[in-house]
Amino acid sequence: MTRNINTKQRIIITAGPTIEGIDPVRYLSNRSTGTMGYLMAEEAVKSGYEVVLITGPVSIPLPEDVEAVSVETASEMEEAVKKRIRTGDCIIMAAAVCDFRPVKKEEKKIKKAEKITLELEKNPDILLSIKDMNGLVRIGFALETENALSNGKAKLEGKGLDMIVINEVSGSRTPFGENERPGGYDYTILSKHGEEREFRGVTKRQLARTVIEMAGQTMGKG
Ligand code: CTP
Repeated sequence: MTRNINTKQRIIITAGPTIEGIDPVRYLSNRSTGTMGYLMAEEAVKSGYEVVLITGPVSIPLPEDVEAVSVETASEMEEAVKKRIRTGDCIIMAAAVCDFRPVKKEEKKIKKAEKITLELEKNPDILLSIKDMNGLVRIGFALETENALSNGKAKLEGKGLDMIVINEVSGSRTPFGENERPGGYDYTILSKHGEEREFRGVTKRQLARTVIEMAGQTMGKG
């Protein structure tokens, strides 16, 4: 496969949670409405990019003019990313990927008991699996409950990212939810060149626009 031969640059965005089946009616997941990824997809379309939106199950409407790919599990998301990654100029991983999945998905519903033990195994790390792709701009998100900056920096370096958007979850100041919050949200963006940009009280829409602008600048640098 060759890289994008259109004049338009292509951004691949992942959004929403993954879900990992326990039995036919139960699953493990992460809290995510998909809002941030969907807003970035909209902003990227507005800025003239081709957009592939790989999305876990969410209840918000798909943005217009994107190529949408629906997935459920982390493995399906990884496969969808790998299938399209060579045609992309940039990937933004906003998805809340489940780090673990049940070792076995039961075929029948697990019956009530005083205690059950669920054995979990590690899911693939999607960003890590595309760490060595030359010429691809890679942007990650990190949601941290402590040591946000140092944990975010470790992810930036460990996953070989160009940029990471860090959000600290503390008390009521969580980023979860579809709606904007009065007072906005706080984020820090770190780049692999050591730049650190702080955003205080911004809307998700503003952050989405900023990330797409910064992605554009990074892609422009080649
Ligand atoms: N990510 C990924 N594959 C995974 C887990 C996470 O590609 N299996 C991506 C996320 O989409 C995000 C970044 O890696 O862009 C950081 O995700 P996060 O969950 O904060 O980090 P983890 O590496 O899973 O580390 P931990 O959960 O231990 O903090």
